[in-house]
This record gives sequence, structure tokens and C-alpha cells, in this order.
Amino acid sequence: MEVFRTVEEMRAASEKWHAEGAKVALVPTMGYLHAGHISLVSRAHELADKVVVSIFVNPTQFGPTEDLDKYPRDFERDSAACEANGVDAIFAPTPDVMYASDFSTWVVEEKLSKPMCGVTRPIHFRGVCTVCLKLFNIVRSDVAIFGRKDAQQALIIQRMVRDLNVPVEIVTSALVREPDNLAMSSRNRYLSPDERKRALSLSRGILAAEAAWKAGEKDAQALIGIVKKSVEEGQGKIDYIVLNSQDTLEPLQKADKPALLAAAVYFGTTRLIDNVFLG
Ligand code: PAF
Repeated sequence: MEVFRTVEEMRAASEKWHAEGAKVALVPTMGYLHAGHISLVSRAHELADKVVVSIFVNPTQFGPTEDLDKYPRDFERDSAACEANGVDAIFAPTPDVMYASDFSTWVVEEKLSKPMCGVTRPIHFRGVCTVCLKLFNIVRSDVAIFGRKDAQQALIIQRMVRDLNVPVEIVTSALVREPDNLAMSSRNRYLSPDERKRALSLSRGILAAEAAWKAGEKDAQALIGIVKKSVEEGQGKIDYIVLNSQDTLEPLQKADKPALLAAAVYFGTTRLIDNVFLG
């Protein structure tokens, strides 16, 4: 496995692979890899001959009061996980490789970025879109894999790629849960033992709402209410709980067409997201 730190090295490897006829997949990450990321790597192996994992804690997607400085980092551990899972190359640039000191060009998706996480994290998706477009331009992968845990992010990236004719196929892959059903996230490590226990109320609520939907409940307020009740029992502070259209992220009154039931909730100072696709 190779580790590339510069744009030139990464591009040269990708060009060489393409010249050899290989198909290249990118798994974009911010590191501190867990089984959810590894499932994206497995999907990448199914779709391509060469798999690149990017590891870059992207400063531009963090708001001024967010957790950029304390975001967990462990390159040695990530590198071992990539090696063990057959990754061909890690692209791990430093911030100055990615952002010139007078960087001034942004990619802004203006519709899907507005609701849900966009309400309390107004610059988040601008940073995500910008860094992803840069990664696509640097790695030049044929395909890129995104987890459905960040359902809004995946949808926005698909929209950006369509709108800007970026020559990469975006594939999404299922959310992965811990054995006790907490959605896997690098941020789970911030939780104290008590918060970790209470955080299970989020997945419990989401999965209970899914079960109710399967049993015939389609009313948005009823489904949202199931999640809300559970999270309140776990003393979570709700950022949002929504039932939105899977395609447009517009609110639905009824889950009688493909819907996304999604929530963001704080346990202590840690903000967790979870979701389920209904239909
Ligand atoms: O989902 C993430 O880890 C990040 O938002 C991404 C896609 C790697 C961009 O920094």
C-alpha cells in the first residue's frame, strides 16, 4: 500500500493505473476509521480494481465553534486498517496542500444543503462540496463511495456531480451499526459511558419508527413522535427530527413515497446523526 501526501504523487498513480486499464475507486474519509468506513472500502473493491482512501480532516467544513481541533486522528491505526483491507493507496494531504493561503473558490449547492444539518451548520456543506470536488479532481477516480449514514451529504454530492458534470460515479453504501445498534461514527468516542448508554435512545427511536412504518404507520408526525419520545427518554437535546422526501429533502406529511426519517441529537456536547430510508 502506498501513502501519497501530494497532489502530484496521487495524480501520477491514478494516471498510471488508468493507463493500465484499471478502474479506480475513492473512499473519502476524515480518518479515525471504523467498520462503517471499512464497509465502504469493501464496496469499493467490488466496483473497481484500485481503491484509494483519502484521509483528511477538512477544516472548511467545521464551523468556528465546532470540533475541528479535537476531531480524533490516528494515522497509524488508520493505515493498518487500510493495509489489512487491501487498500491500494492512502491520500493524506496536509491542509496547506489542499488550501492555498489565499484560497477563495467555493462550491455551494443551494437547495439540498438548506434543511436538516444545513440549519445549524450553515457552512458545512460548502466545505464538504468544495473538498470533495477537489478530491475528485486530484484522485480522478471513476467511482466514489459515500455512506448513507450521512444521507444528506451523499445526496448533495450526487447533485453537485450531476450539476457540474463531474466525471465520477457516486455510489452509496448502507449505514453500519454497532452490535447494540448505535450508528457507527468517529464522534462516538467523545461520549462518556452515561452518554453512550443514553445515545442508544436515538437508534432505538429510529428503528421503532421504521418498525411502525412497516406495520402500516405512514403519518409523518406519528413517526417523528416515536423518535422524539425515545430521544426525550434518553435526555437527548434534539437538533432536528424530520421525515423528508428522499430525493428533494422537502418535508412530507405522509411516508407514502420514498422517505428519509432522519435525526440529529446532542448527548452532552456530542452531536449524533442517524436515519432510516422508508421505501
Ligand atoms: O463524511 C466525511 O467524512 C466527510 O464529510 C468527507 C466526505 C470525507 C469530506 O470531508
